[in-house]
Amino acid sequence: MSSPGAPPPPVATLAIDARDVAKTFRAGWLGRRRTPALQGVSLTVGRSVIFGLLGPNGAGKTTLLSILATLLVPDAGTATVLGLDVVRDANALRRRLNMASGRPSFLWSLRVAEIVAFYGRLYGLHGAALARRVDALVEQYELTAYRRTPYNELSTGLKQRVALAKALVNDPELLFLDEPTLGLDPDVSVRVRQHIADLRRERGMTIVLTTHYMREAEELCDEIAFIKDGRILARGTAADLKRQIRLGDVIALKLDPPRLPWLAEAPGVLRLEESDGWVACTVDDAEKRLPELLRAFHAEGVVVRNVQVREPELEEVFVELAR
Ligand SMILES: Nc1ncnc2c1ncn2[C@@H]1O[C@H](COP(=O)(O)OP(=O)(O)OP(=O)(O)O)[C@@H](O)[C@H]1O
Ligand SMILES: [Mg+2]
Repeated sequence: MSSPGAPPPPVATLAIDARDVAKTFRAGWLGRRRTPALQGVSLTVGRSVIFGLLGPNGAGKTTLLSILATLLVPDAGTATVLGLDVVRDANALRRRLNMASGRPSFLWSLRVAEIVAFYGRLYGLHGAALARRVDALVEQYELTAYRRTPYNELSTGLKQRVALAKALVNDPELLFLDEPTLGLDPDVSVRVRQHIADLRRERGMTIVLTTHYMREAEELCDEIAFIKDGRILARGTAADLKRQIRLGDVIALKLDPPRLPWLAEAPGVLRLEESDGWVACTVDDAEKRLPELLRAFHAEGVVVRNVQVREPELEEVFVELAR
């Protein structure tokens, strides 16, 4: 609670405003081995948004999250998070955000409730308030039966739940989740995703997550940025990205006769592939081309036995961008 006379916390319409953020890791003899992890990343994320960062291994996703979460200092560029500078105002900012990794690591000998309490103390909780918060989180994440279990004896799914419980100990306004469903069973992943959606809906929390699962990104994220070699190559909704990359729609057809020499040359047809009696016809725009093709088939006396239309999957966009 703010005391009388204290300045109100800064209000920013953007949760994140990063500009030209760069980070190079130095290793080896005199730091001569250099790995440019981020090469000028600019990114804005609105409040109460679920934002996804997608990109291949080594793209810089974890590095970017770590800088925005004040765990790493950038070499160049600026980043304002919740209206605060990630370097200058790191201490004030830390109280208002948190981060959980899908590869969590805590002191192996600490027990579940001790881990949550440890982090609670870091945020200034103590006594009865700390005990109440720990109990609530242990219960919420269904960890009651494991309260006294040492961390290293937990399964992957339980470790992730501890990581989430720990990340909510300060009731953050902004939560960074680095691969939150990594290695989880499908049914557990569904629940974690549901929980992430609830955090935003119920508390208006802003959530920035990384993931390698396209379904997760598509289902959960309002917006997605695609990052590769430390640069953002594209951003938008899943639908925007599909449109930007222009992979085309696929019209799959079962035809009689099955092969038509003219089909590959028909207007709007980008590619043809045949398998199992189906012709997969990639076109620039299915809504426009399907009626044209059906009219042409009719005129040629071709029988259409089956037809299916599908948009490109986000996975295909990913593969294209990662090339
Ligand atoms: N502490 C570090 N020291 C040296 N190099 C590092 C360090 N952390 C990351 N890197 C390098 O920086 C680059 C970006 O790594 P980062 O972990 O951010 O990628 P990522 O997108 O999270 O990858 P992944 O999908 O595999 O988690 C990689 O080349 C990585 O090897
Ligand atoms: Mg990573």
